[in-house]
Amino acid sequence: MENVRIRAASMATVAAILLAGLVASKTTAAAGPADEQTTRHTVSYDHYSAMIDGRRVVIRAAEFHYFRLPSPDLWADVLEKYKAAGFNAVSIYFDWAYHSPAPGVYDFTGVRDVDELLRMAEQVGLYVIARPGPYINAEVSGGGFPAWLKEVPGRARSSAPGYTVAYQDWLGHIDPILARHQVTNGGSVLLYNAENEYAVNTDAAYMQAIQEKARADGIDVPITANDCCDAASWSSTWATGAGAVQIPGVDDYAQSFDCANPTTTWGPWGEGVTERLRDDAPVFAAEYQAGSIDQPRVGYDQCRELTGVDYTRFFNKRNVITSGATAFNYYMGFGGTNWGWLGQPNDVYTSYDYGAPITESRQLTAKYDEFKRQNYFLQAVPSIAKTDSITAPVADNPAVATVARANPDTGAQFVLVTHADRNSTSTDTATLDWSAPDGHYSLPVRVDSHDARILVAGVDLGGQRLVWSNSELMTDATIGGRDIALLHGPAGESGSTVLRYSSEPAVHVLDGAATTTYDATTGDLRINYVHSGLIRIAITGGRRPPLLLLLATTDQAARFWRADTPSGPVLVHGTELLRSASVHGGVADLRADTSQSGPIEVWAGTGHVLVNDAVLTTRQTPSGSLLGNLGGPKAVRLPALSAWRTARETPEAQPGFDDSGWTAADHTTTTAPLPPKTLPVLYADDYGYHYGNVWYRGHFTASGSESTVSLNAITGLKGVYLVWLNGRYLGSAAGGNEADADAGAPDPGHGDFAIPPGTVHAGQLATLSVLVENMGHNDDWTADDNRFKQPRGLVAATVGGAQISWRIQGARGGENLPDPTRGPLNVGGLDGERAGWYLPDFPDGGWQSVSSPAATSVDPGVSWYRTTFDVDLPRGQDTSVGLHFDGPPASGYRVLAFLNGWNVGQYSADVGPQRDFVLPAGLLREHGGNTFALAVLAEHGVTPPGAELVVMGTQRGGVPVNPVHSPGYHEVVAATR
Ligand code: GAL
Repeated sequence: MENVRIRAASMATVAAILLAGLVASKTTAAAGPADEQTTRHTVSYDHYSAMIDGRRVVIRAAEFHYFRLPSPDLWADVLEKYKAAGFNAVSIYFDWAYHSPAPGVYDFTGVRDVDELLRMAEQVGLYVIARPGPYINAEVSGGGFPAWLKEVPGRARSSAPGYTVAYQDWLGHIDPILARHQVTNGGSVLLYNAENEYAVNTDAAYMQAIQEKARADGIDVPITANDCCDAASWSSTWATGAGAVQIPGVDDYAQSFDCANPTTTWGPWGEGVTERLRDDAPVFAAEYQAGSIDQPRVGYDQCRELTGVDYTRFFNKRNVITSGATAFNYYMGFGGTNWGWLGQPNDVYTSYDYGAPITESRQLTAKYDEFKRQNYFLQAVPSIAKTDSITAPVADNPAVATVARANPDTGAQFVLVTHADRNSTSTDTATLDWSAPDGHYSLPVRVDSHDARILVAGVDLGGQRLVWSNSELMTDATIGGRDIALLHGPAGESGSTVLRYSSEPAVHVLDGAATTTYDATTGDLRINYVHSGLIRIAITGGRRPPLLLLLATTDQAARFWRADTPSGPVLVHGTELLRSASVHGGVADLRADTSQSGPIEVWAGTGHVLVNDAVLTTRQTPSGSLLGNLGGPKAVRLPALSAWRTARETPEAQPGFDDSGWTAADHTTTTAPLPPKTLPVLYADDYGYHYGNVWYRGHFTASGSESTVSLNAITGLKGVYLVWLNGRYLGSAAGGNEADADAGAPDPGHGDFAIPPGTVHAGQLATLSVLVENMGHNDDWTADDNRFKQPRGLVAATVGGAQISWRIQGARGGENLPDPTRGPLNVGGLDGERAGWYLPDFPDGGWQSVSSPAATSVDPGVSWYRTTFDVDLPRGQDTSVGLHFDGPPASGYRVLAFLNGWNVGQYSADVGPQRDFVLPAGLLREHGGNTFALAVLAEHGVTPPGAELVVMGTQRGGVPVNPVHSPGYHEVVAATR
């Protein structure tokens, strides 16, 4: 915001503003942690809620994984979108594997700069729930455990000495970063989550030791835990006893992960009501389902439907009132991308969109609107931070159910109204017999289908008294000497709102239709209306200040944005996103996104408005707002990807290939829980090759009578391996995986490959070449090593009775990364990867020119395609670009896609339904040259897919995005050979 540009304004206005020195002196500031950076605070808690400096706070967090968005400037985009939705906190896992390629080696720079991430959270004004594990699950490879940990003896997630040394070292690196960003040090870290769903095979001493380490490292905020399972065999909640934390929390995924059945009967995995685990700590919904992994691999649209607006409305609201929880973390707010080999293979493919409120391409959804309505409401009623369960008003229709809570100090009441049968899709009306704080009332209510409403009674809104309403409150603010209250209800539905005045006020309906009655005995002003568009009512007299009552349809309510500034709240109607606001004297300085041109209405108590540094031409409205118009985005033009070059590799399959520089695979013992079926041990991790593809070459003297190559390889789910003998391709097979192992499969990933006559000759050397994909490492959910330490690579290899001597080759450098910028998860051991074919600047001039990969065909093995393209996206605009693979989804091949050297995903009909791959700005140079490299791994002769760039969303606005440092071939390969 340093370069202030003034556009499209009359010179007089500009001069007036500049003269006042308002623009030049502006700073960006937001309420919450942002304005508290240099101030130390205390954090405490009791039965009801957490408190900061003794002030109660309802924690409204959503989960965010920085490691799934490798473009740090875009972290700010997502965090601002969280803040704009009314979240006041972000919950963040820290992925040990992402930072540590080798024991004792850590990287917190570039896309791993979590210090910068925490600074951003502070600037945006979000508290942080920090979750450094050591184990995190999260559908990341190894559940966050680096694969080198598989080689460390002793059970992970226990007090075993080897594991203890390793995890204490990780915490010793991450904790101090978190500690210096704590609220207690003027930062934003508010809670510290120890371990993850540590509920089976538990070791209390380990749980205790994590906390002692955190304390020793300077963590002084409350420590939390997230309990996953209430079954008797998964009973450790860490609420009491050895290893107990201060604020135990509970994870709830009531709607399951069954995206294949998005219209499932609700709550197949439970009620979704967060349990109270301790009397002296608040109820904490540590992970509350806000989307789903796509376990059935049907596409995330169905996951978003499974956990759609109806689900979000019903389950979240019911949980708020039924459980009395005052700390929430919705999992996920934005899912992101399993780029490279980041994902855990059993549950996910490249996209981790999660059906979340914000899509993988950072677009806002209808679910986002629902979260915004709920979050704004929670912010609007501070009384909800301290409530007890009370007897609910009785409905005169048994189809309608009520649950209620009240604040024991203010008396404010909150009543949840739903269908008694949550699967009912009918419409029912009822009258509630309600003893509200300000009197006894008969309240008409209506429930449509899966609707859930939280009605309030007896709350103060600025200078006003809301007696009750059967519309829902969204927000209230006092701006420019006027109270504003925004309530909403479904379009077409009648509503009533009752306010109290000592004398009859003057009521002016500014927009829409409403009638009022005033009861001089009680002082109740009752306003009756039918929700339609936006009804505006000005009420003056009777109280101070005057009130602007806004009665919106539920959809219209979502068009409102609120930002809190040190000078008070700012309310905006219109635009697709209000990123931030600040107020300086007479100017409201907004940052907003638009996806089409349209009106913007601003309540800021100022005479002038800047939007994205440009003066907004406005006029005053009778509502006390300033009304202007904002332009939409410019058209986006993307280049065609039409000039490709191709080359084939797979030299490893040829008998004459020189593998003398490869690692000899000759171990006879292993730490893996699964003993090898033949020796030597051929597990890739045992030789320091942890991610991506691995090559094996086995040499033996043939007897001439060999007829079959028998192998088994474990790849993780959806992985594959390919086999050549003396340069002849024998075929491919699916690799073994965790599910096979869980099911007790005797020979996971088994493949028999017939040897064609004439392939080997008696007494002559023969070479067996095997390419094994490693799809990523299993997690350790069961804390017993069996899943997590399941090996990757060959488990057995026999060719008749031959004595085979082996060599293995994986990613160049093994644990010693030649490309630390992109990190350990970016590449494996394909010949082209080792030679830097994926990198910008690789000299591909000698490769064959083709118009498209789809205009070629390839033999089994690995072929590469490269192209460069220039992009010039409209400036001041946030355009999300994707790579789309076209043609019929075919099986038998998989494509690794590298953008400017970054592995942005794996496309294959055999892996998942995904055809569009997000290219995050920053990795994508928005103004300049870019390079794509595609590695096509074919199991048989195939025609690869065509590829094109697509727009996944574009808005005027956005955040400034710097190109992510992307070292090229000369830096990564040529200079380090
Ligand atoms: C939870 C776990 C998270 C994540 C989630 C499913 O049980 O704590 O890390 O795995 O399930 O997406």
